[in-house]
Amino acid sequence: MKRSLKMGMIAVVGICLIFYQYHLSTGIRFDQVSIFNGGAAAADDNGNLLPIGDEDAYVRVHKITEEMIRKAVFRVQKANGLSPDVSAMLTQELLSYANKNFDSAENNSRVSRLTPTTMATREETVDPLYIITPTYRRPEQIPELTRMSHTLMLVKNVHWLVIEDAIVATKQVTRLLERTGLKFEHLIAPMPEKYKLKKGAKPRGVSNRNRGLQWIRANATNGVFYFADDDNTYDIALFEEIRKTRKVSMFPVGLCTKFGLSSPIIKNGTFAGFYDGWIAGRKFPVDMAGFAVSVNFLRQRPNASMPYRAGFEEDGFLKSLAPFEPREIELLADNCTRILAWHTQTKKNEPSAPLDMKLYGSTNLVKLKQQIV
Ligand code: UGA
Ligand code: MN
Repeated sequence: MKRSLKMGMIAVVGICLIFYQYHLSTGIRFDQVSIFNGGAAAADDNGNLLPIGDEDAYVRVHKITEEMIRKAVFRVQKANGLSPDVSAMLTQELLSYANKNFDSAENNSRVSRLTPTTMATREETVDPLYIITPTYRRPEQIPELTRMSHTLMLVKNVHWLVIEDAIVATKQVTRLLERTGLKFEHLIAPMPEKYKLKKGAKPRGVSNRNRGLQWIRANATNGVFYFADDDNTYDIALFEEIRKTRKVSMFPVGLCTKFGLSSPIIKNGTFAGFYDGWIAGRKFPVDMAGFAVSVNFLRQRPNASMPYRAGFEEDGFLKSLAPFEPREIELLADNCTRILAWHTQTKKNEPSAPLDMKLYGSTNLVKLKQQIV
């Protein structure tokens, strides 16, 4: 092969690889943007919606790359008189290199397999997942819900029931929910006065969760529901796990406490009790984030509900699902060997002071303050 031809081919390979790497990185961000806007459109720099096809986002990036490789080789072939045979070989080489890279990126970890694309293809076939999230107005509310919404945006066929312990729904929450493109309900369910006034531990999130159960009884016919507090941290693999729930499933929860864990104990492959820092005579000493229930199972138990009893909410609810015994628990997360839910807590903060309108009344700070609760 002539020296100049060899140099030309090396240059082509280099250019193509640079284009390929560029699209690999920007493409993934592009996918996420499209999902944030409802899955059917992406936004350009000015915030205008750009329509994109129905095709799987991951495949689309792949196709752009393939087309670019073909075009680049073709351009060099024309400009430098590369023989069609050599061009074809070069194209083939570059494509197989690109495919190998895609495959290894996808197989790198369990989580990377759960790309928006993988799930998009499953959207039509999966039953709904109802996520019941109690929330209440405080400075941390919007950041917590932002974090959580971005997790749920990676999960297919989620219906998010966001229920505020409030008399009036917080408008910043409504706006946030609308932006996600998720199916959602924004409901209110204030804690009854008598519990609010009580000294000591209060039954937090109970009115909200019972409102969620009421909504499910009235509107849902299949699928699974899960109580997901707004301040916890969820691995997206959790949602694929809880889809498997037939009646009631359980799985480990990571706690950021000395005890470290709340989980069913598995011995010789079968259920052998519960590990939790606070057993307190509970039949089901589990964390709120550690179980999921099938909608049908709930509907067959019209009296199931959560008691207003601080510390005994999980136990009381699971007992209200009778007939249901610990030996019937479906063990998820690889027989309870993986932590996919974390009971995290955010430091509580004082509400921010009102803005000094004399100083800042005609600045951007007015708009920003409206986004803080
Ligand atoms: C733990 C449990 O995980 C909760 O499920 C349980 O309700 C609570 O203890 C309890 O026993 O009272 P923890 O992290 O200590 O949760 O409580 P928070 O995160 O403060 O509250 C649980 C949920 O209820 C959150 O989603 C929160 O937004 C909501 N909440 C809290 C309200 O709706 N109203 C409140 O006044 C406080
Ligand atoms: Mn919490």
